Amino acid sequence: MSTYLHGFIPEEQQRLIDQAGILGSLIYPRIDFSDCKNLLEIGSGVGAQTEVLLKLFPDLHITCVDYSESQLEMARKNLEQFSGRVSFICQDAKQLELTGKYDSVFICWALEHISEPIEVLKGMKNSLLPGSKIWITEVFNSSFYFFPKLPGLERYYEAYNKFQISLGGDPDVGAKLGNMLKVAGYTEIELSHGGFHLDQTNPGELIKIITYWKGLMKSGSNSMIQAGVISKKEVISMENDLDQIAKDENAVFFYQFVQAKAIL
Ligand SMILES: C[S@@+](CC[C@H](N)C(=O)[O-])C[C@H]1O[C@@H](n2cnc3c(N)ncnc32)[C@H](O)[C@@H]1O
Repeated sequence: MSTYLHGFIPEEQQRLIDQAGILGSLIYPRIDFSDCKNLLEIGSGVGAQTEVLLKLFPDLHITCVDYSESQLEMARKNLEQFSGRVSFICQDAKQLELTGKYDSVFICWALEHISEPIEVLKGMKNSLLPGSKIWITEVFNSSFYFFPKLPGLERYYEAYNKFQISLGGDPDVGAKLGNMLKVAGYTEIELSHGGFHLDQTNPGELIKIITYWKGLMKSGSNSMIQAGVISKKEVISMENDLDQIAKDENAVFFYQFVQAKAIL
């Protein structure tokens, strides 16, 4: 069984591209690499965030690191138009052996999947120049609040988070970024939050995010069914509950991720 919750099937690779688009306006307003030249992206997946970064910061060269050859293969295709500004390395983020030196690091939705993520933060220091700028965006799944409290979604969400922990990940790693960066030796650490607080005052956005959320939740379902922690019926029940919340006149949908900025 794979130790990666979402798996590497084409639908999941497309989901990462869609996700970068849907959440882009929440993730990027604070991030600034305009004074950087050589960025290391860890857990770069299919290059969905890489594309956003390359467009936002035209002077940047990005080295994408991922431990999945199939993700990197798709990233190469997706980023063809940026050839010369991007390179790819297949490595485990916990055992980095990089020859280059970088002045910046970007990590998004990757540390949540890695056991002892502090080892990544410590290990990457060997490849960073003094004064390097770090931006990390990570999940804080305990922040999720929804109303009405429908049991299918409640059960599925609990199983989803427990399953990620059983794979060695941490669905609340975002909340721990500040302490981890400090212990790993970084300075000027700043934490901020982003996400959504939606209800029927903005029904269009509510439906958009609930539809996105359904895809996110479902992306774990193959591995969870295979591991026997959830049934197909429970997946459908989770999806039905999300549809019902979107229509409920008292619907509330709240989630916050955490962003950390630091300097080496
Ligand atoms: C949820 S995806 C996020 C991809 C990308 N950062 C984005 O936001 O679109 C997490 C990525 O981390 C990679 N990953 C997980 N554990 C890793 C590890 N130990 N070393 C390197 N990459 C890892 C996975 O292969 C996957 O591509």
